[in-house]
Amino acid sequence: MAILLVDDKEIEAKNGTNLLQACLDNNIYIPHLCYLESMGISSASCRMCFVGIEGEDKPTTSCTTMVKDHMVVKTDTPVVRQLQRTALRLLLSAHHIDCKNCHANKTCELQNIAKFLNVGLKSKPLDRYLKDTDIDLDHPYLNYYPNRCVLCGKCLHVCRNQHGQSVLTFANRGFNTVMSFYASGDAPSSFCEDCTLCVDICPVGALILRESQDIF
Ligand code: SF4
Ligand code: SF4
Ligand code: FES
Repeated sequence: MAILLVDDKEIEAKNGTNLLQACLDNNIYIPHLCYLESMGISSASCRMCFVGIEGEDKPTTSCTTMVKDHMVVKTDTPVVRQLQRTALRLLLSAHHIDCKNCHANKTCELQNIAKFLNVGLKSKPLDRYLKDTDIDLDHPYLNYYPNRCVLCGKCLHVCRNQHGQSVLTFANRGFNTVMSFYASGDAPSSFCEDCTLCVDICPVGALILRESQDIF
């Protein structure tokens, strides 16, 4: 066991636990989008879960940092918040904000994080770079909205965990990266008929069962 001080609160965590999980287990919230406990090693792609650690020059991503005995951590310093707000604004710059017409409205993790960080979803500090395709209908049962996707990778992960391989994959690079059904071949019908794990795990409104699309 490691004993840590987080925001002046003493917490315990098993050795080998990452700092984000240790904080969440102790009701200390750190914004995060791309981490799931079952992932093991985090991709650390969302750049949201920064914390400050005593003795270290720069904030670090808590999902990739293992707990250590006597660690002293701050989750709420001005530098940490600045990094988190920058990461959020970058995500928002590639996001079609239309919450009223999105099925994730009021359950969306992006909305929750924006509220927590006091960043307006429609604030315009950066230019918007939306993708040309607003909706991808390649899958027989699912609609995918590239301009709502935060590229967290959770859908790929749960699909692979459940079926031994994922029918989802990331395609393209850089700004053009999207989640794609390219990995599926003919698999979607066999894998997806009775499975909604990817839809359920999506933290935003980027994946939706087509039958519930009628009103969105
Ligand atoms: S994904 Fe979230 S932030 Fe984006 S439009 Fe839907 S509810 Fe709004
Ligand atoms: S579709 Fe949803 S779960 Fe999948 S990468 Fe995009 S935001 Fe994450
Ligand atoms: S949760 Fe740590 S970088 Fe995304």
